[in-house]
Parts: sequence; C-alpha cells; structure tokens
Amino acid sequence: MTLDLPRSIDDTQALLDQADYIADRAVATVIYLALGMGRPLFLEGEAGVGKTEIAKVLSAALGRPLVRLQCYEGLDVASAVYEWNYARQMIEIRLAEATGGADRDRLAEDVFNEKFLIRRPLLQALQAGPAGAPVLLIDELDRADEPFEAYLLEVLSDFQVTIPEIGAIAAAEPPIVVITSNRTREIHDALKRRCLYHWIDYPDAERELAILKRKAPEAAERLSREIVAFVQTLRQTDLFKLPGIAETIDWTKALTQLDAIALDPETVNNTLGVLLKYQDDIAQVQGSEASRIIDQIRTEVAAAG
Ligand SMILES: Nc1ncnc2c1ncn2[C@@H]1O[C@H](COP(=O)(O)OP(=O)(O)OP(=O)(O)O)[C@@H](O)[C@H]1O
Ligand SMILES: [Mg+2]
Repeated sequence: MTLDLPRSIDDTQALLDQADYIADRAVATVIYLALGMGRPLFLEGEAGVGKTEIAKVLSAALGRPLVRLQCYEGLDVASAVYEWNYARQMIEIRLAEATGGADRDRLAEDVFNEKFLIRRPLLQALQAGPAGAPVLLIDELDRADEPFEAYLLEVLSDFQVTIPEIGAIAAAEPPIVVITSNRTREIHDALKRRCLYHWIDYPDAERELAILKRKAPEAAERLSREIVAFVQTLRQTDLFKLPGIAETIDWTKALTQLDAIALDPETVNNTLGVLLKYQDDIAQVQGSEASRIIDQIRTEVAAAG
C-alpha cells in the first residue's frame, strides 16, 4: 500500500514521530521539502546523530521498500548498479549449441537480455513496485571514490542508467533518495547542487530526553535525565570523539541493565566504554572529571525537576 506524502511540516514531524524518530523543526522542514519537490536529501553530521535512521524511518512510515547502497572505497558499477549473470549466460549458450542451429546474432541478443541482468541497488531503486518507488539510501558517500560520485551525478540527474547492450533504463517514478556523509572528505558541489542539504547536529537536552523515552523507555526518569545532562556536558569538553545519540541510548540501556536509577561515580567509571570509544577520551573523563560532572549535573537536574 502506498501511503501519501506528508502535506505540511507538522505532518512530516508527526509521521517521523510515529516511526519513533524525534525530529526538530529544521530537519522536518528539509524532509518535507525533499519529498514534495522530489529532490534527493543530502545529510551530513557526526557519527551516531541519526542520519541513516532517517532513510529507514521514511521507508517504514511511507510503506516503501528500502534499497540500501553502502559505500566503500573501490565501490564500482558491478556492485552498485548491475552486472551480467555470466554463469546463466554460459548455460544459455551451451543449451543453444546443444539444440543446434544457434544463430550468432540471435544468441547475442538473447543473452544480453534483462533476464540475465543482476540488479544492484541503484538499478533496483529505479523500479517501482506495488508499494510505489522505493527509498534509496546511499550511505556514507564520502567513503566511495570520486569516479563513483561522478557516475552517481548522472543517475541522480535523470534517474536513469545506461546499459550499453540494452540502452537506457529510466525510472517511471523517481525513488526517494537519502544520501549520508560523515564528511571524511568533501562531496563535490555538482552533486550537492542536485540535493537539499542538511547538517544534523547533536540534539539539545530536551530532544535527547524525548529520544531516550522512546528508545529506552525502561530507564528510570531520573536516570534518563542525569544521563542526558552528563552527555550534554561531555559534548562541551574537548574529546577526540564525542558521543552520539546512538551512544546515549546504549549507555542508558547498559545502566538500566545494571539496575541503576541514578548516576554514581563508580558505575559511570566502569561503563564509560559504552559511551566513549577511545582510550584517551576515557582516561580523560574517568575519575575526578566524571565525579565533577556528576556533582554539577545533580544540582542541575534537581533544580530542573
Ligand atoms: N532523532 C532521533 N529519534 C530517535 N532515534 C534516533 C534519533 N537520532 C538517532 N537515533 C537513534 O540513534 C541511533 C544511531 O542513528 P544512525 O545510525 O542513524 O546514526 P548515523 O548518523 O547514521 O551514524 P553513523 O555516521 O555512525 O552511521 C539509531 O539507533 C537511531 O535509532
Ligand atoms: Mg549511518
């Protein structure tokens, strides 16, 4: 069943909320516009801030299949777009030979038929099913090489792929495209120009608490508040890698599993590896710094609640 696209920014925010994604107004606006204008959405931001999740949530909320292309160095057309199924083509040729009278031209035509095409994500995304055009997630584009990016530019301009033996295959209905990047390198302007761009920042305390209520509802209210305050304070410090929303959720689940109902220095010190993934960062926070932050946020949380 194809669900209608949202009709307003509020509608978009509600749609995302139904799928457990707590979006701020800015993100809901750009998503609403990308859907309405049929333009790819280009999302950049630090790790674990909810970029990939947007594509998953859109697919679930709109009832569209999700086609995912995970980018990596060396990603090529054979893995991203299509490949001929050589084994099946060989069998077809052998069968034609065995039954005799295989005309060479006819055979070439038969063998380079869509039947023998292995569709990789970009080609799959051009095919709309009964549920409508899919959501195409091109994840971590900064990891792919520049020639691939140039190729993608063509695909995203016309929503079509040219296969020399067959010709152009165009999408009857363009997919909903979400591209993410962790910004390990800049993506070219030409590609960005075709997209609507949004930088996803770390959430403020209020939104992070709302996310925890949705993603780790089993946690005690006071624990969730203290965790959010702790993480928000950590994000102001000079660490090599700041914790994302994913880490906040993980830490909340870990502390809940340990039956914690509030933060205490010992438990924090023993579980910092759920939140921080670099030894230097852990060493910097562990001990006196952790105790200091706990004291500070206790007063804050008590004053707020
Ligand atoms: N606004 C949000 N509402 C609800 N959950 C969220 C939100 N943002 C992030 N999350 C949760 O945080 C986790 C990490 O999100 P996601 O994988 O999308 O991050 P990312 O930005 O793609 O990170 P990376 O760059 O490491 O791939 C997911 O489990 C997701 O459910
Ligand atoms: Mg991601």
